[in-house]
Amino acid sequence: TTKEPAENSPVKESLAPGRGLQTGDYLTTGQGARLPDTDHSLKVGPRGPVLLEDFHLREKITHFDHERIPERVVHARGSGAYGTFTAYGNAASVTKAGFLAEKGRETEVFTRFSTVLGSRGSADTVRDTRGFAVKFYTAEGNFDLVGNNMPVFFIQDAIKFPDVIHAAKWHPDREIPQAQTAHDTFWDFVSLHTEATHHVFWAMSDRAVPRSYRTMEGFGVHTFRLVNADGETSLVKFHWKPVAGVHSLAWEEAQLTAGVDPDFHRRDLTDSIDAGLFYEYELGIQVMPDTADETFQGIDLLDPTKIVPEELAPVQPIGKLVLNRNTDNFHAETEQIAFHLGNLVPGIEVTNDPLLQGRLFSYLDTQLSRLGGPNFNQLPINRPHAPVNDNLRDGMHQSVVHRGIAPYLPNSLSGPEGVVPAGPENGGYVHLPKPVAGDKVRANPVSFADHYTQAALFYASLTPIEQDHMVEAFTFELSKCYEQAIRVRMLSVLSNVNAELTAKVAAGLGLPAPEGKPPVEVTPSPALAQITDRVWPIA
Ligand code: HEM
Repeated sequence: TTKEPAENSPVKESLAPGRGLQTGDYLTTGQGARLPDTDHSLKVGPRGPVLLEDFHLREKITHFDHERIPERVVHARGSGAYGTFTAYGNAASVTKAGFLAEKGRETEVFTRFSTVLGSRGSADTVRDTRGFAVKFYTAEGNFDLVGNNMPVFFIQDAIKFPDVIHAAKWHPDREIPQAQTAHDTFWDFVSLHTEATHHVFWAMSDRAVPRSYRTMEGFGVHTFRLVNADGETSLVKFHWKPVAGVHSLAWEEAQLTAGVDPDFHRRDLTDSIDAGLFYEYELGIQVMPDTADETFQGIDLLDPTKIVPEELAPVQPIGKLVLNRNTDNFHAETEQIAFHLGNLVPGIEVTNDPLLQGRLFSYLDTQLSRLGGPNFNQLPINRPHAPVNDNLRDGMHQSVVHRGIAPYLPNSLSGPEGVVPAGPENGGYVHLPKPVAGDKVRANPVSFADHYTQAALFYASLTPIEQDHMVEAFTFELSKCYEQAIRVRMLSVLSNVNAELTAKVAAGLGLPAPEGKPPVEVTPSPALAQITDRVWPIA
């Protein structure tokens, strides 16, 4: 049985308000001893030598020596803010997740925006995909929506992630370039691995140089499965729509800004919040029926290189996010936050998208080394706002003094009640029973094979000015390759998508345009009125 902790017990101490707040009349050591002087080492006379016994010198320098933690292996450069998410309530017809379904329910969130490729100190306005990660501290536990500002990804299977990132980050010999897609290894990889084509088109579009995080869309990318209170399911894609609209920098602006103010996006986020000009987004979902083949209008919903055009399934707004509070301590909040796709709440499930499945492993795994062991969920920024009773014990950096001698189940020692099995009726996360069958293979479905149609669709959807920007982007970035053969191969890939674009980029590079490939034909999307019967409306 568990006794009340003693007055001087570390349990009380660990709960004490103000712990580590670094306030008070005296400077102290980390052990609480008051200090007369922090400006001079302890020496034998003013000219030294310095004495090894100077515990204050040793503690101060040692702690400083270990101030840095590893930066994220990707998305190292980021900025974050707190906010409030308010549900419109209309999502109740598709999900039982309370923070989405309950009209007017407010949930605290932390959002971290990032670039993907550059180091922690790299510039904000480089050409890159942006991360848009949101942690919802819901009453049912944390839910993380770890998205990007582009709706598709370079690869269809997580096993290719080390390849695409090794190719897209700096060259290993010189560690340049920082955060740019203008180099040989990037173009080498994407010209050989053509499933990247659709994302490459987004990366060469104006979307890759957002004006501000305020004017950027966000996408969950993968298809998720929602479950409502009656157990009915649907397949959805998540979208963040910025209230301020989508706006980009011109490439010249982006380049100049990277030099003049490398913190341009971070500064805008924090200054705006300080000034009360909050960032606002609507969360929307595209809702598709949960059919056996998990396709919609011929689009395989498990393929993360494909979108569902909004004409076929409109984005239906289900809530609003307002970012309204800056961090107090970048390290403790923005740097130590740990997002994870496996942080799910009842009403939201994952699908078999092979990119999503691999991500479910990767985030927790990388955080074990980035944040030093298995207890990073105790860090204030990662703590759920729901009660936690997890039987997890000990480990590096354990900061909770757990009580009770029976962190196992079943047990008869924890008191008369024990724990109650949480079924759906009392908020348990019960996985949807889904039949699984098939041969063990290393293969993609045939439906993943088309790498070009949606890239062509995207290019066709741009205005002429945006198309010009894309031609200029391909020309600029490819011109930075040292290897001519890589440029030639990439032109050949482009020719599968659009002949006019290819010819212009080839001319810009002073190379002949590849011949003989018909461009992909883009069927105009049917008018919304004609297809509403095929959309599964919510509410
Ligand atoms: C980090 C998005 C694919 C591994 C991130 C972050 C975002 C993100 C937004 C930054 C999170 C933060 O702010 O802390 C995405 C999206 C993907 C994708 C939208 C595809 C749709 C993958 C894949 C893998 C992966 C396939 C690995 C198999 C990682 C890792 C981190 C990360 C290791 C660093 C996490 C940390 O250190 O805390 N990703 N990612 N990502 N991602 Fe992804």
